[in-house]
Amino acid sequence: MKLHRKITYSVAVAGAVAAGALMAQATVGPKDVAFPQGFDKWQMYQQLNRHDVKQYRELYAKPEIVKAVREGKPVPNGAVLVIAIFAAQQDADGKPTRDAKGNFIKGKPMGVTVMEKRAGWGASVPAAWRNGDWQYAAYTPDGKPNEKANANIKGCFECHLPHAQQDFVISLAGLSGTAAGAAQRPSGPGAVAIAEFLFGPEKVSVKAGQTITWTNIDDSPHQVTVQGASTLRTPVVLKGQSTSLQFTEEGTYGYICGLHPGMKGEIVVTK
Ligand code: CO
Repeated sequence: MKLHRKITYSVAVAGAVAAGALMAQATVGPKDVAFPQGFDKWQMYQQLNRHDVKQYRELYAKPEIVKAVREGKPVPNGAVLVIAIFAAQQDADGKPTRDAKGNFIKGKPMGVTVMEKRAGWGASVPAAWRNGDWQYAAYTPDGKPNEKANANIKGCFECHLPHAQQDFVISLAGLSGTAAGAAQRPSGPGAVAIAEFLFGPEKVSVKAGQTITWTNIDDSPHQVTVQGASTLRTPVVLKGQSTSLQFTEEGTYGYICGLHPGMKGEIVVTK
């Protein structure tokens, strides 16, 4: 899988080089996505709890951008979408605590991530993972480039890529003000919900041959990845989508999310 991706990427780069110096000159990346000064005075359009990394997040955009999208227009060129990342406050057992609305409670600032869309910005991104004209950058809370995150900026493109039909904006429902949380939580034997970056239940027990079905409740995509002698990956599931696996051999199987390795679960298969 990894090797295949590498080859795809190399071919795309070779193509860009062949296209000439104009392409190289046009390379746009994290350095071009400025720190959004004063973003916390913009409109907070969504809040997000993440169990996997015990974080609370706030999503911001300028009011005129939110207004345009809520009027049914496409996300305008020049749009800047910001995530402010905070550690979630925890109780004595290490469980994130919640406010009256169910949001985790803001702790230490951890970082700021930005996606910005400008006409022509996608041209220098390999076609295999281009996100329209969006570019990404990560910053420390005080506005310095997060070089480590920016060195792996391809990860942003890959995680947003399955959302091509919503202009690559994972939080589009929040931005447009359409009903969030519409995905239905599954129930019954072998049913696992994925919500707030948590597999629920984290440990699921089934009989050999019985189907386990995961349903994604989050806006974010997830991917069940069973670790063992050979890795078993389900397709990436988007909000409201489900994916299933069956195990014929009894045993205990640990799994993670292929996109968020801090998300962990366990499957126990009995006779
Ligand atoms: Co995930």
